[in-house]
Amino acid sequence: MRIAIGADHGGVDLKREIGEHLRGAGHEVLDLGTDGSTSVDYPDFARAVAEAVLGGADRGILVCGTGQGMAMTANKVPGIRAGAVGDVFSARMIRQHNDAQVLCLGARVTGPALALEIVDAFCASDFEGGRHTRRVDQIEKA
Ligand code: RB5
Repeated sequence: MRIAIGADHGGVDLKREIGEHLRGAGHEVLDLGTDGSTSVDYPDFARAVAEAVLGGADRGILVCGTGQGMAMTANKVPGIRAGAVGDVFSARMIRQHNDAQVLCLGARVTGPALALEIVDAFCASDFEGGRHTRRVDQIEKA
């Protein structure tokens, strides 16, 4: 898969680990920054990853301190469904039931080992369609 990743200064270390993990698993990674510890604004990176997904990336992964600001911003981009997740079950569910294309993680909340399990669950799960299609369509109209 082609996976766009982005982070602010609070998530840059975890983003780096996620990028290495995904490349090691054979995915193509589009790293949209940030790359250092200088304080930056998370909405800039949330928008960049959201646009990469709309432009054809299969998934987006965003990391900030909590994952919440990234999710709030990404969800304002029409057509993007993003979830801030801290457990493996929810990572699977936002794919299967909500057809989320963007996973948001909190590096100050979720440790790296669990974060990588969450990433794997998110990348390996697919939308189930059926009754969930109608509900996902309703999200766009809400
Ligand atoms: C940055 O200090 C912090 O606010 C950010 O990483 C994130 O947690 C926002 O949602």
